[in-house]
Amino acid sequence: MFKKVLVPVDGSRGSLKAVSMAAEIGRQFGSQVTLCHVLELPATTLTALGMAGTPGAGDAGFTAMEKAARDILNDAQAALALPVEQVSQENMLGHPAETIIRLAESGGYDLVVMGSRGLSEVRAFFLGSVSDKVSHHAPCPVLIVR
Ligand SMILES: Nc1ncnc2c1ncn2[C@@H]1O[C@H](COP(=O)(O)OP(=O)(O)OP(=O)(O)O)[C@@H](O)[C@H]1O
Ligand SMILES: [Mg+2]
Repeated sequence: MFKKVLVPVDGSRGSLKAVSMAAEIGRQFGSQVTLCHVLELPATTLTALGMAGTPGAGDAGFTAMEKAARDILNDAQAALALPVEQVSQENMLGHPAETIIRLAESGGYDLVVMGSRGLSEVRAFFLGSVSDKVSHHAPCPVLIVR
């Protein structure tokens, strides 16, 4: 059970709680854990950077964002504290919810573990828009941590 676990992270407190729970699941079940971060670039940003959907290397703004994304993944991996052969990272570009759902499908994951809220943390709602969409459309069970 829970052989392949997908953990979407955005660097928020909520996603770090999900990482702690995924660490426990990884230890209990010997799961392969994939940390994924989706860098969301609005269409206007892509246009301004002169990118028709596929960013190229060398742009300063994009390079900074890519570095921030790598830091989020590396911090999550450090917090996960599982043996390195049990962990992988996916650094992706696109619409967060859609990209996470597509990865859960194509990667054959059998569990997604994510935070109830992310960086926006508007108290009025239990779920953020990403956890809401993923919980409705993922092809596997979704554990929403709060
Ligand atoms: N860009 C992202 N890449 C990977 N995982 C993400 C991303 N954004 C959110 N998540 C995951 O979804 C969880 C819930 O975050 P979500 O974005 O839904 O809430 P929010 O930021 O509080 O609200 P909203 O983004 O809807 O304004 C996070 O704890 C994290 O696990
Ligand atoms: Mg968010």
